[in-house]
Amino acid sequence: MNNEAAYTQGLLRKALDPSTQPAAIRAFLKEELELVRSLLRPRSRVLDFGCGMGRHLIGLDSHLGRSVGFDYESSYIKEARQARAGAGCVFFVADATAVPLVVPFDAAICLTNTWGTMSDKLGVIHEMRRLSPAVGTRFVTVYSPASVAARREWYAKMGHRVLAATDHELVAEGGFSSEHFTERRLRDLLGPCKLHPIGDVAYLAQF
Ligand SMILES: C[S@@+](CC[C@H](N)C(=O)[O-])C[C@H]1O[C@@H](n2cnc3c(N)ncnc32)[C@H](O)[C@@H]1O
Repeated sequence: MNNEAAYTQGLLRKALDPSTQPAAIRAFLKEELELVRSLLRPRSRVLDFGCGMGRHLIGLDSHLGRSVGFDYESSYIKEARQARAGAGCVFFVADATAVPLVVPFDAAICLTNTWGTMSDKLGVIHEMRRLSPAVGTRFVTVYSPASVAARREWYAKMGHRVLAATDHELVAEGGFSSEHFTERRLRDLLGPCKLHPIGDVAYLAQF
């Protein structure tokens, strides 16, 4: 199994169930949303890469302009469309390395270590730059090395016990893998960027 198969089998639903989340992860999720809200200009039109069930755009709906989220897992998009009732955002199925859009947005987001689970990281960054061309309007959140203990506990509670750990990746039962990033690795991959710490378990990179 790979990450795509794990998501098809509903990994994200288990991850967002608070009963699986260690305290450090619950605190990260809350702080991440508050930080993203503070960095996105009111009424900006945002494109969410790997939006899952749309919780960020739906949660930020009253703050944002007409925004769009996409994910390659169609069952998540179906749930996002049901959950958006009354919200202005829209959702569709697409791959983050080949987004079928041409009109640029005010900002692009890729949150909750979604980027750290994607295989073609630079392909995704290329699409974020293309669809949100202004410097400083692209936002990626990723885990730091200090997140490893909390993520081990979290993944085990989801049925994906960690089998192997390297300096930049956890590989778990069922073939799920998730990366983490030092500041140096982030700067190597993204080039010039501003790093906002989220607790000590994550960063938001703005580039
Ligand atoms: C860690 S989950 C986070 C989902 C959502 N951003 C959230 O925080 O609730 C990662 C998401 O990225 C999606 N994903 C992974 N690779 C993708 C790709 N290449 N294109 C589109 N979606 C992708 C998965 O299906 C999954 O919904």
